[in-house]
Amino acid sequence: MPASSARPCRRVPVASPMSRSAEMAQDLFEAAREAMAKCHAPYSKFPVGAAIRADDGSIHAGANIEVISFPEGWCAETTAISHMVMAGQARIREVAVIAEKLDLCTPCGGCRQRLAEFSAPDTLVHLCDAEGVKKTLRMDELLPYAFETEVIG
Ligand code: THU
Repeated sequence: MPASSARPCRRVPVASPMSRSAEMAQDLFEAAREAMAKCHAPYSKFPVGAAIRADDGSIHAGANIEVISFPEGWCAETTAISHMVMAGQARIREVAVIAEKLDLCTPCGGCRQRLAEFSAPDTLVHLCDAEGVKKTLRMDELLPYAFETEVIG
């Protein structure tokens, strides 16, 4: 059959199945979304929420908190880490992040280092939109070549 008379290949759209890790992180997504609604972001008007599942399964959420002296504000991930540490937990199993105005909000550079402090290389980082988990990365994908050394401490 000449190429010109070949039937065009029809692409049938199929709903992409939710990955197992995304499905299992639904509660984390919901906690991050609820936390986002509690942000204090009157200057940037850019609400962000984060929720951490610690090693014992407990969930610790946080939102960004801004201060009129702008550099003194902090990120949603940082609030969530604070809650986790104050609850007596020190290891992150997985974390979800959501920003109201972005389809995918990847943690800022400083938060990557803060998250890495309490994570393993295979800790999962779920990036969410308004519907749920949209993309999942491992911590070592989000922050390759993270700063670490045994010389300090
Ligand atoms: N923000 C976060 O909460 N997490 C991030 O990873 C990126 C930025 C906040 C900080 C500030 O309140 C607002 O988003 C705009 O930068």
